[in-house]
Amino acid sequence: MIRLIYISTARCELAEIELEGILRSSRRNNAAAGVTGLLVVGGRRFLQALEGPESAVKQTYDRIRADERHFAAVTLDSRPIAERSFPGWAMGHQPSKPLRGDGAVADDVAALIASIGDPTMHAYFAEFAKKHAA
Ligand SMILES: Cc1cc2nc3c(=O)[nH]c(=O)nc-3n(C[C@H](O)[C@H](O)[C@H](O)COP(=O)(O)O)c2cc1C
Repeated sequence: MIRLIYISTARCELAEIELEGILRSSRRNNAAAGVTGLLVVGGRRFLQALEGPESAVKQTYDRIRADERHFAAVTLDSRPIAERSFPGWAMGHQPSKPLRGDGAVADDVAALIASIGDPTMHAYFAEFAKKHAA
């Protein structure tokens, strides 16, 4: 298994309904492919972790990168893992609105990532939440 983390930028700020559509197809496709992960949205930035069998993660990432709703995907980290950080989430997401300078949302992200044991991944999500909630 591998885990890949990337950051990207939305072409324009997504409406909640569009984000719900992305989450719906993510959860359906990822469940079928054995991919799990977390997607956090802060303004126009996305930070996403994808984990699962290498070929499934790569295929999923290729499809995501080709999505015209965002651009400039930069892979931050990609490495083999022995176990998943998000075994229960076909695609986890912060429960409230995308981060917009609202401290409560940073708290939501903190709660989401509290159980992540991997320090690299924990740091990426914590920094992202801090930056976009400032
Ligand atoms: C930021 C972002 C994250 C996405 N994450 C996933 C994902 O984890 N899994 C997935 O299948 N599609 C994801 N998508 C959507 C894909 O780009 C693509 O639209 C979708 O997989 C097409 O599948 P469908 O035809 O079944 O809807 C994401 C799109 C964006 C913009």
